[in-house]
Amino acid sequence: MNIQLQKIDVSRVDSHVVILVGKDTISQAAFLTPEEKSFVEAHSDTEFHTISRLPYTLNVIVAKEDTPDAWHSIRCAAANIQKQLVKLEAKSLKIWAPEVSEKQAMALVEGLILSNYRFQTYKNKKETLLETLIVEAPVKEKALAVMQNVCVSMDECRDWVNEIPMVLNAETFAQQIARKAEELGVRCEVLEQTQIQSLKMGGLLGVNRGSEDEARFVVLEYTPEGMENEAPIALVGKGITYDTGGLNIKPEDYMQEMKSDMAGAATMASTLFAAARNQLKVHLMAFLPMTDNRPSGNAYAADDVLKMYDGTTVEIINTDAEGRLILADAIAYSNQYNPKLVITAATLTGAAVRAIGTYGIAAMQEKTPDNTYMEKLMGSGIQTHERIVEFPMWKEYEEHIKSEIADLKNCGPGQAGTVTAGKFLAHFAKNPFIHLDIAGVAYYPKWETFYGVGASGFGVRLLHDFLQTI
Ligand code: BES
Ligand code: ZN
Ligand code: ZN
Repeated sequence: MNIQLQKIDVSRVDSHVVILVGKDTISQAAFLTPEEKSFVEAHSDTEFHTISRLPYTLNVIVAKEDTPDAWHSIRCAAANIQKQLVKLEAKSLKIWAPEVSEKQAMALVEGLILSNYRFQTYKNKKETLLETLIVEAPVKEKALAVMQNVCVSMDECRDWVNEIPMVLNAETFAQQIARKAEELGVRCEVLEQTQIQSLKMGGLLGVNRGSEDEARFVVLEYTPEGMENEAPIALVGKGITYDTGGLNIKPEDYMQEMKSDMAGAATMASTLFAAARNQLKVHLMAFLPMTDNRPSGNAYAADDVLKMYDGTTVEIINTDAEGRLILADAIAYSNQYNPKLVITAATLTGAAVRAIGTYGIAAMQEKTPDNTYMEKLMGSGIQTHERIVEFPMWKEYEEHIKSEIADLKNCGPGQAGTVTAGKFLAHFAKNPFIHLDIAGVAYYPKWETFYGVGASGFGVRLLHDFLQTI
């Protein structure tokens, strides 16, 4: 999106316009007639008003407060306006918001940019999207550029997650990430099947047995100048490019949307790329194990025992609990870099969706010295409205994944499924560990505000904000 900061001539409407005004300053809003001002004042609770100045529209949003919730409402209103503008085939839009706060104005621009995404690779008739925003608002060039970098990274994340399984397998996903890393000067190493075999990553190889395609393991490293000796933050993401459930095949329509089961890997790659674009002062590594999970004559089965990268043995109870197996190897592999914090992002459990729905992330922590990381993450959750809720990691849950014939089993008896999955992962971490179950938020089958339809990119804004606080 091309954004230009400049004064707008309010004497005439010569393009589509969005006006953002404070609740108490509606009477000063340019563009509006006295009648329109009093109407907007009387209905200031309405999400937004659209006034026709054919062939253009004038869209008025009233900013209520200067709080994260109110900024979120502005982003949502922006998304609904964007949707209308697409129908009108608008390419250029003016934003007039000179009197509001910087945060309110930024929320408006961000909502417009983020909603201006469609996955249309397979559409013959593509929608026309906005191309240019002309902005008069108290926002700084630099802040706009930072935000745009995050949005671009989110859009790349959405493209990967939306891509179909026939096109995006472990090999092509790894290739695409490597290409992006090269473009951004990020170090990238792609471990291929034979290297994964030599490393004895039994979890990743076990899940991959049923696949026609090879597995991949991608390692990214972003080292800002002067940070070479700092312990990295390890971002670990689940990269199941398609989850059929394996031999415990998913019934009925439960398989649908499972192309999004690599959203954790995409989120972590995109978070690292956003940090690199914005030159954040934090040493980051990403560990992204990739394969699909399919049944075949050679597929791993319930009753098998896998020997993981770190030597832990795992009894397979259900081949559909595959994400934790590939993540366990990735976490264990990251230990050699002695990270100061390991964060996992994974579409890991249906139980997370049943517990909190699609409104936020289920988070767990273990081996953290105190609550500081989690508090900061929660703070970022509130600021970005990508909210997280902490689940307990009580010791008792560890009993649920003890096996009679191996060190662990890959799932428990069904209670607290999100936590037992988190407990399973924590077993492989040696350093402070935070796990984010993004199953509820990574993919929206129906339109969801500025996240749109399909892959949301949820988590990138959250983690980018968090990385600036530590
Ligand atoms: N990828 C799924 C989890 C999932 C479900 C993500 C719905 C997004 C939406 C995961 O691999 C899975 O199948 N988990 C099982 C675990 C069970 C077998 C212990 C689940 O949640 O049912
Ligand atoms: Zn599964
Ligand atoms: Zn899965």
